[in-house]
Amino acid sequence: FTTMTGEKVRSEAPEIGVGMLGYAFMGKAHTNAYKTIPYMIYPPPAIPKLVGICGLVESEAAEAARRYGYENYYTDWRKMLENDKIQLFDNGGPNDIHPEPCITALQAGKHVICEKPMARNAKEARKMLEVAQKASVKHMVAFNYRFLPAICQAKKLIESGALGQIYHFRAQYLQEWIMPHYGTPRIWRLDKESAGSGALGDLGAHIIDLGRFLIGEMKSVSAVTRTFIEERLLPEGGGTAKVDVDDAFVATVEFENGAIGTLEA
Ligand SMILES: NC(=O)c1ccc[n+]([C@@H]2O[C@H](COP(=O)([O-])OP(=O)(O)OC[C@H]3O[C@@H](n4cnc5c(N)ncnc54)[C@H](O)[C@@H]3O)[C@@H](O)[C@H]2O)c1
Repeated sequence: FTTMTGEKVRSEAPEIGVGMLGYAFMGKAHTNAYKTIPYMIYPPPAIPKLVGICGLVESEAAEAARRYGYENYYTDWRKMLENDKIQLFDNGGPNDIHPEPCITALQAGKHVICEKPMARNAKEARKMLEVAQKASVKHMVAFNYRFLPAICQAKKLIESGALGQIYHFRAQYLQEWIMPHYGTPRIWRLDKESAGSGALGDLGAHIIDLGRFLIGEMKSVSAVTRTFIEERLLPEGGGTAKVDVDDAFVATVEFENGAIGTLEA
């Protein structure tokens, strides 16, 4: 309620044209945010304008554009990035589709938001960062948990010194949708070529980021990863495929400031 009495709008906010890669889970979640930002984050620094949305299946991309109110739809992200009205590129595609489209967008002078994990491995992520640092644009990875009120409050308490020295960081991100009784097929998240890693990148990325956000850089890590179900049905039928990413990981870490931590997903 207190936000209703906050700062009032002083001048018209500029529009910013958005190009969204992905119309599925994150495509929908990010679009929902773009549509509500103008009144939820008030006064808005900019008003998102839904210029283009891109995904693999043309009929679904067209339906997503209709449903969410994007002006254009694409099945080829390169074509979408040619649209000059797109000033902000938002990458909500599978992890293997993060580096090339983001780098292309950065080189075209567009701001970039990229879903986590930034890439499949550190080499790809470093290349993206180098290009982003050379471009005079804003760039961020979508670590949405940093913005949760409870996390913001924890950050404030730690920074104010109210909690004193932090000795111990414990984080668990326990999702169970890949357990055998759900019959989850070998979707892209369970394929190393597409995802890079399993629970580590999908869930661990969030808690590793929160460790860095709240406590600081980590200086050592010792961990175990495990693939419990090594073969799954292919989502499109036609047999099974090997699972070559981790179903779970457990890690102990040491932070540079002397704190220790455990991470699990
Ligand atoms: N921040 C979070 O909490 C959170 C939650 C879920 C997923 N994610 C991340 O978001 C990303 C997407 O996950 P999702 O669950 O939305 O996936 P999804 O499978 O639901 O959607 C992927 C989308 O990408 C499109 N796509 C795939 N390959 C493409 C290509 N070559 N060109 C154009 N479009 C292509 C598909 O058509 C689909 O619309 C992943 O990196 C994932 O790790 C983040």
